[in-house]
Amino acid sequence: MTWKKVAEKSEIAPGKSREFQIDGKKIAIFNQNGYHALDSMCVHQDGSLAPGKLDGDVVECPLHFWHYNIKTGELLDYIKGVKLQTYKVEARNDGIYLDV
Ligand code: FES
Repeated sequence: MTWKKVAEKSEIAPGKSREFQIDGKKIAIFNQNGYHALDSMCVHQDGSLAPGKLDGDVVECPLHFWHYNIKTGELLDYIKGVKLQTYKVEARNDGIYLDV
């Protein structure tokens, strides 16, 4: 595990998220009551969660509306026990860092 700077703080507005390509992985970082990072590909048909609608801790996949908890990565619909990988994320003075 290594901390890497992945973005400037200004790149992700409060209540928004963005997808980043980091070490070959697509990772979505959400700025929603703090920063949260998780694999951005929906387990259904690989939809990107980054542009999904946020409601509290829950993001809705834009393609067919499956829901995930952005803090735990847990899928909240249909299949029990499915979790997307989450990552530690920190906002430091000079930007957003991810432990990947
Ligand atoms: S690809 Fe996400 S719900 Fe279908």
